[in-house]
Amino acid sequence: MTANKRIVLSSDHAAIGLRHAISAHIAGQGWDVVDIGPATPESTHYPEHGEAAARRVASGDCRFGIILCGTGQGIMMAANKVKGIRCGVCADPFSARMIRQHNDANMLSLGARVVGEGLALDIVDAFLAANFEGGRHATRVNMITALEN
Ligand code: RB5
Repeated sequence: MTANKRIVLSSDHAAIGLRHAISAHIAGQGWDVVDIGPATPESTHYPEHGEAAARRVASGDCRFGIILCGTGQGIMMAANKVKGIRCGVCADPFSARMIRQHNDANMLSLGARVVGEGLALDIVDAFLAANFEGGRHATRVNMITALEN
């Protein structure tokens, strides 16, 4: 399968169950899921998992990344430190759609202590179904990229 249909998933210990649910959900839609863990529930450090997933996306190995921690916030902050990553935390499907359409987000972050499984899956679906609109939004995304350089 091409990198275009490959999604990397990672989380910290607070979100392992929700990560597994998302993995099964999107694999059922035909996505090639690269789940980089962690596999066991011991307390761990979200920056490591955010960075590892972000590097898969930044390198082009995976088209998108979905990352999770308790709030979705810490792991998102770590992922956004990797050059080329645009990751937003979403707790509603509207925002998930908009970060694709307007911000060309390549990663989505979710808080397993914030959203339940049903809502999380709707958020993931909204993110994956939406496309970047380009145009004036591309100008702004290019300005974000310029901040990295
Ligand atoms: C872990 O207790 C928690 O701090 C982490 O999952 C996350 O919410 C951090 O942003």
